[in-house]
Amino acid sequence: MPRRPLLAGNWKMHLTISEAKKLASSIAQSAADVQDRDVMISPPFTALAAVAETLSDTNIILAGQNASWAAQGAFTGDISPLMLKDAGCSMAILGHSERRHIFGESNDMINKRVQSCLSTDLVPILCIGETLEEREAENTFRVLDKQVRLGLKDVSLKTGNEIIVAYEPVWAIGTGKTASADQAQEVHAFVRNLLEDIFEKNIATEIRILYGGSVNAENVDVLMAQKDVDGALVGGAALKTESFDRIIHFQS
Ligand code: 13P
Repeated sequence: MPRRPLLAGNWKMHLTISEAKKLASSIAQSAADVQDRDVMISPPFTALAAVAETLSDTNIILAGQNASWAAQGAFTGDISPLMLKDAGCSMAILGHSERRHIFGESNDMINKRVQSCLSTDLVPILCIGETLEEREAENTFRVLDKQVRLGLKDVSLKTGNEIIVAYEPVWAIGTGKTASADQAQEVHAFVRNLLEDIFEKNIATEIRILYGGSVNAENVDVLMAQKDVDGALVGGAALKTESFDRIIHFQS
Protein backbone atom coordinates (compact mmCIF):
# COMPACT_ATOMS: atom_id res chain seq x y z
CA MET A 1 0.00 0.00 0.00
CA PRO A 2 1.50 3.36 -0.98
CA ARG A 3 1.73 5.87 1.85
CA ARG A 4 -1.03 8.45 1.72
CA PRO A 5 0.43 11.99 1.46
CA LEU A 6 -0.24 14.31 4.40
CA LEU A 7 -0.17 18.07 3.98
CA ALA A 8 -0.13 19.67 7.39
CA GLY A 9 -0.34 23.27 8.52
CA ASN A 10 1.25 24.24 11.83
CA TRP A 11 -0.23 27.60 12.71
CA LYS A 12 2.12 28.04 15.69
CA MET A 13 1.16 30.99 17.96
CA HIS A 14 -0.96 32.79 15.38
CA LEU A 15 -4.62 33.75 14.99
CA THR A 16 -7.49 34.55 17.33
CA ILE A 17 -10.52 32.25 17.45
CA SER A 18 -12.47 34.20 14.84
CA GLU A 19 -9.44 34.48 12.52
CA ALA A 20 -8.77 30.76 12.94
CA LYS A 21 -12.38 29.84 12.05
CA LYS A 22 -12.20 32.00 8.95
CA LEU A 23 -8.95 30.44 7.72
CA ALA A 24 -10.17 26.91 8.56
CA SER A 25 -13.31 27.45 6.58
CA SER A 26 -11.47 28.67 3.49
CA ILE A 27 -9.03 25.75 3.74
CA ALA A 28 -12.01 23.40 3.97
CA GLN A 29 -13.30 24.86 0.70
CA SER A 30 -9.89 24.44 -0.94
CA ALA A 31 -9.59 20.86 0.25
CA ALA A 32 -13.11 19.81 -0.76
CA ASP A 33 -11.90 18.21 -4.01
CA VAL A 34 -8.92 16.43 -2.48
CA GLN A 35 -9.30 12.67 -2.20
CA ASP A 36 -5.98 10.91 -2.48
CA ARG A 37 -4.25 12.78 0.33
CA ASP A 38 -4.81 13.92 3.91
CA VAL A 39 -4.95 17.54 5.02
CA MET A 40 -4.27 18.53 8.63
CA ILE A 41 -4.26 21.86 10.45
CA SER A 42 -2.93 22.64 13.89
CA PRO A 43 -4.37 25.89 15.29
CA PRO A 44 -3.42 27.24 18.72
CA PHE A 45 -5.11 25.46 21.66
CA THR A 46 -7.60 28.27 22.26
CA ALA A 47 -9.10 27.87 18.79
CA LEU A 48 -9.25 24.06 18.58
CA ALA A 49 -12.84 23.48 19.69
CA ALA A 50 -14.22 26.29 17.54
CA VAL A 51 -12.24 25.13 14.50
CA ALA A 52 -13.41 21.54 15.09
CA GLU A 53 -16.96 22.81 14.74
CA THR A 54 -16.10 24.68 11.53
CA LEU A 55 -14.56 21.47 10.13
CA SER A 56 -17.32 19.13 11.31
CA ASP A 57 -18.55 18.21 7.81
CA THR A 58 -15.09 17.85 6.32
CA ASN A 59 -12.34 15.27 6.57
CA ILE A 60 -9.66 17.76 7.51
CA ILE A 61 -7.65 16.46 10.45
CA LEU A 62 -7.15 18.59 13.54
CA ALA A 63 -3.97 18.44 15.64
CA GLY A 64 -2.68 19.93 18.85
CA GLN A 65 0.71 21.66 18.85
CA ASN A 66 1.91 19.68 21.87
CA ALA A 67 0.49 17.18 24.37
CA SER A 68 1.26 16.40 27.98
CA TRP A 69 2.51 13.04 29.20
CA ALA A 70 -0.20 13.05 31.86
CA ALA A 71 -3.94 12.61 31.42
CA GLN A 72 -4.68 15.27 34.04
CA GLY A 73 -3.16 16.82 37.13
CA ALA A 74 -0.98 19.62 38.42
CA PHE A 75 0.76 20.57 35.17
CA THR A 76 0.04 24.28 34.82
CA GLY A 77 0.23 25.34 31.20
CA ASP A 78 0.09 21.85 29.71
CA ILE A 79 -2.74 20.24 27.75
CA SER A 80 -3.43 16.52 27.97
CA PRO A 81 -4.03 14.15 25.05
CA LEU A 82 -7.51 13.50 26.46
CA MET A 83 -8.29 17.23 26.34
CA LEU A 84 -7.04 17.41 22.75
CA LYS A 85 -9.29 14.52 21.78
CA ASP A 86 -12.16 16.18 23.58
CA ALA A 87 -11.55 19.33 21.51
CA GLY A 88 -11.67 17.31 18.27
CA CYS A 89 -8.03 16.44 17.61
CA SER A 90 -6.75 13.15 16.29
CA MET A 91 -3.05 14.08 16.09
CA ALA A 92 -0.48 16.05 18.08
CA ILE A 93 2.78 17.67 17.00
CA LEU A 94 5.51 16.68 19.48
CA GLY A 95 9.12 17.74 19.92
CA HIS A 96 8.87 20.63 17.49
CA SER A 97 12.23 22.40 17.25
CA GLU A 98 10.69 25.48 18.90
CA ARG A 99 9.70 23.31 21.89
CA ARG A 100 13.18 21.75 21.98
CA HIS A 101 15.19 24.93 21.54
CA ILE A 102 13.10 27.74 23.07
CA PHE A 103 11.44 25.75 25.85
CA GLY A 104 14.20 23.22 26.52
CA GLU A 105 12.22 20.03 25.91
CA SER A 106 14.42 16.94 26.09
CA ASN A 107 14.23 13.68 24.16
CA ASP A 108 13.10 12.01 27.37
CA MET A 109 10.19 14.45 27.84
CA ILE A 110 9.22 14.08 24.20
CA ASN A 111 9.29 10.29 24.51
CA LYS A 112 6.86 10.48 27.43
CA ARG A 113 4.56 12.69 25.35
CA VAL A 114 4.75 10.21 22.44
CA GLN A 115 3.77 7.35 24.76
CA SER A 116 0.84 9.21 26.31
CA CYS A 117 -0.53 10.15 22.89
CA LEU A 118 -0.27 6.54 21.71
CA SER A 119 -2.10 5.27 24.76
CA THR A 120 -4.86 7.84 24.15
CA ASP A 121 -5.23 6.98 20.46
CA LEU A 122 -3.85 10.30 19.31
CA VAL A 123 -1.34 10.06 16.47
CA PRO A 124 1.95 11.66 17.53
CA ILE A 125 3.93 13.59 14.92
CA LEU A 126 7.47 13.27 16.24
CA CYS A 127 9.55 16.21 14.98
CA ILE A 128 13.28 15.85 14.59
CA GLY A 129 15.93 18.04 13.01
CA GLU A 130 19.51 19.24 13.25
CA THR A 131 20.72 22.80 13.78
CA LEU A 132 22.98 24.54 11.26
CA GLU A 133 25.93 24.08 13.59
CA GLU A 134 25.26 20.35 13.81
CA ARG A 135 24.96 20.05 10.02
CA GLU A 136 28.16 21.98 9.42
CA ALA A 137 29.99 19.80 11.93
CA GLU A 138 28.69 16.75 9.97
CA ASN A 139 26.68 15.59 12.95
CA THR A 140 23.30 15.52 11.21
CA PHE A 141 22.84 11.76 11.18
CA ARG A 142 24.14 11.31 14.73
CA VAL A 143 21.68 13.92 16.04
CA LEU A 144 18.74 12.47 14.13
CA ASP A 145 19.60 8.92 15.19
CA LYS A 146 19.47 10.02 18.82
CA GLN A 147 16.25 12.01 18.44
CA VAL A 148 14.49 9.11 16.72
CA ARG A 149 15.76 6.32 19.00
CA LEU A 150 15.14 8.24 22.24
CA GLY A 151 11.86 9.75 21.02
CA LEU A 152 10.56 6.27 20.18
CA LYS A 153 12.10 4.45 23.15
CA ASP A 154 9.87 1.59 24.40
CA VAL A 155 7.27 2.36 21.76
CA SER A 156 5.58 -0.62 20.20
CA LEU A 157 3.26 -0.28 17.24
CA LYS A 158 0.71 -2.55 15.64
CA THR A 159 0.77 -0.59 12.38
CA GLY A 160 2.83 2.22 10.92
CA ASN A 161 -0.24 4.44 10.78
CA GLU A 162 -0.12 4.99 14.53
CA ILE A 163 2.78 7.43 14.30
CA ILE A 164 4.26 10.06 11.97
CA VAL A 165 7.78 11.47 11.87
CA ALA A 166 8.52 15.01 10.65
CA TYR A 167 12.03 15.99 9.59
CA GLU A 168 12.42 19.71 10.09
CA PRO A 169 15.99 20.95 9.80
CA VAL A 170 16.19 23.83 12.29
CA TRP A 171 18.13 25.97 9.81
CA ALA A 172 15.26 25.75 7.32
CA ILE A 173 12.43 26.75 9.69
CA GLY A 174 11.08 30.24 9.04
CA THR A 175 14.29 31.20 7.24
CA GLY A 176 13.22 30.86 3.62
CA LYS A 177 16.07 28.32 3.22
CA THR A 178 14.64 24.95 2.21
CA ALA A 179 16.58 21.71 2.20
CA SER A 180 17.11 20.74 -1.43
CA ALA A 181 15.03 17.81 -2.63
CA ASP A 182 18.19 15.65 -2.54
CA GLN A 183 19.06 16.71 1.00
CA ALA A 184 15.51 15.94 2.15
CA GLN A 185 15.46 12.53 0.43
CA GLU A 186 18.87 11.62 1.85
CA VAL A 187 17.66 12.26 5.41
CA HIS A 188 14.25 10.67 4.88
CA ALA A 189 15.88 7.48 3.55
CA PHE A 190 18.18 7.48 6.59
CA VAL A 191 15.17 7.85 8.91
CA ARG A 192 13.31 5.08 7.08
CA ASN A 193 16.28 2.73 7.63
CA LEU A 194 16.37 3.70 11.27
CA LEU A 195 12.66 2.93 11.61
CA GLU A 196 13.29 -0.47 10.03
CA ASP A 197 15.89 -1.08 12.68
CA ILE A 198 13.48 -0.13 15.48
CA PHE A 199 10.26 -1.70 14.21
CA GLU A 200 9.46 -4.49 11.80
CA LYS A 201 10.07 -3.64 8.17
CA ASN A 202 6.40 -3.73 7.17
CA ILE A 203 5.59 -1.25 9.96
CA ALA A 204 8.52 1.04 9.09
CA THR A 205 7.39 1.04 5.46
CA GLU A 206 3.97 2.34 6.48
CA ILE A 207 5.20 5.23 8.66
CA ARG A 208 4.81 8.59 6.98
CA ILE A 209 7.83 10.90 7.10
CA LEU A 210 6.99 14.58 6.51
CA TYR A 211 9.41 17.31 5.53
CA GLY A 212 9.13 20.75 7.13
CA GLY A 213 11.12 23.96 6.78
CA SER A 214 10.16 26.78 4.42
CA VAL A 215 7.86 24.61 2.32
CA ASN A 216 5.92 26.85 -0.06
CA ALA A 217 3.84 26.87 -3.23
CA GLU A 218 6.99 26.92 -5.40
CA ASN A 219 9.00 24.09 -3.85
CA VAL A 220 6.28 21.66 -2.73
CA ASP A 221 6.13 19.67 -6.01
CA VAL A 222 9.83 18.82 -6.13
CA LEU A 223 9.92 17.90 -2.43
CA MET A 224 6.82 15.70 -2.70
CA ALA A 225 8.33 13.94 -5.73
CA GLN A 226 10.99 12.36 -3.49
CA LYS A 227 10.49 8.68 -2.75
CA ASP A 228 10.56 8.96 1.05
CA VAL A 229 8.93 12.38 1.43
CA ASP A 230 5.35 11.52 2.37
CA GLY A 231 4.08 14.96 3.19
CA ALA A 232 4.86 18.45 4.39
CA LEU A 233 4.63 20.20 7.74
CA VAL A 234 4.15 23.83 6.81
CA GLY A 235 4.43 26.96 8.95
CA GLY A 236 4.25 30.39 7.31
CA ALA A 237 2.75 29.24 4.00
CA ALA A 238 -0.06 27.45 5.86
CA LEU A 239 -1.40 30.73 7.19
CA LYS A 240 -2.42 31.96 3.74
CA THR A 241 -5.22 30.27 1.85
CA GLU A 242 -3.59 30.79 -1.58
CA SER A 243 -0.26 29.18 -0.73
CA PHE A 244 -1.76 26.36 1.36
CA ASP A 245 -4.25 25.70 -1.44
CA ARG A 246 -1.34 25.19 -3.85
CA ILE A 247 0.47 23.00 -1.31
CA ILE A 248 -2.47 20.67 -0.76
CA HIS A 249 -2.86 20.46 -4.55
CA PHE A 250 0.80 19.56 -5.07
CA GLN A 251 1.60 17.66 -8.28
CA SER A 252 4.37 15.11 -8.50
P1 13P B 1 8.04 27.36 8.10
O1 13P B 1 7.26 26.65 7.03
O2 13P B 1 7.49 28.73 8.42
O3 13P B 1 9.52 27.37 7.80
O4 13P B 1 7.85 26.52 9.46
C1 13P B 1 8.07 25.16 9.42
C2 13P B 1 7.61 24.57 10.69
O5 13P B 1 8.19 24.80 11.74
C3 13P B 1 6.42 23.69 10.66
O6 13P B 1 6.26 22.99 11.84
